[in-house]
Amino acid sequence: MSQRTANILVFDSGVGGLSIVNPIRQRLPATTLTYLADNKLFPYGLLDEQLLIERVTQLIANASQQYHADIVVVACNSASTLALPHLREVLNIPVVGVVPAIKPAAQQSKSKVIGLLATPGTIQRDYTDDLIGDFANGCDIIRVGTSTLVNIVEEKLAGITPAAEIFTGIIALFHHHPRWQQMDTIVLACTHFPLVIAELAQAAPEIDHWIDAGDAIARRVQYLLENLPDSPVTADPETNNTVTNTRNIALFTDTEKLTAPLKQSMLAFGFSQTENYSPLYWPNKSP
Ligand code: DGL
Repeated sequence: MSQRTANILVFDSGVGGLSIVNPIRQRLPATTLTYLADNKLFPYGLLDEQLLIERVTQLIANASQQYHADIVVVACNSASTLALPHLREVLNIPVVGVVPAIKPAAQQSKSKVIGLLATPGTIQRDYTDDLIGDFANGCDIIRVGTSTLVNIVEEKLAGITPAAEIFTGIIALFHHHPRWQQMDTIVLACTHFPLVIAELAQAAPEIDHWIDAGDAIARRVQYLLENLPDSPVTADPETNNTVTNTRNIALFTDTEKLTAPLKQSMLAFGFSQTENYSPLYWPNKSP
């Protein structure tokens, strides 16, 4: 009898979710990944909140059904900090959100001066305030919101190598705070940013801890998949000859931006197939 493999839908506005794909792959090599990038409305960090909630809920609800997802990972802090309750209301599969990793940062920082690097949206959300209030009481959190860095990462994966000065400039944005010289930890609270961690670390060698949510998310996904009532296969296919459906596909809402170098990058992350995904009802189209 053949068993199907688990299918995980990973969602982001662009390529940022790839920083979550890698840890998931390492932990769950046999699962199928469907990647959905809403690059038509990119960047999410500058989008109106109501529009973002509606867009994300509709796209994910549609795609998870169409591609038979067992679980959804909203690999986007800007979307997760707003849309998780709405998604959980309409979906009947587990939804894992990526939100700023404030708690581990507060645990690891010695100086208790922590940088929070995120999109302009995430930086000012109530959700972020609540995380800081719950887990980083007594810490100084230096907030920097940037969409420039999000764009730089998109360009990098589309084959344009960013200049080192760009990262020095981003780190300099923390200097507005009187205690910036004591900052020993930076939370990468946008999934795009771990994709340039080497460049950031080079621009700020004094930082001891760069924190992102990738591994924690992968652990959570594994736990949830293994505890589904009708648990699909998550084991290594090499040791399990009953596995079927291992097609990893990447969907983009705007394929015009899908250049040859970007396709190469998607291939490097295991997505050999890239397709257009544009549900008819959006934007401003009737069903
Ligand atoms: N990667 C996303 C995040 O984690 C979104 C970036 C954007 O589109 O502004 O916030």
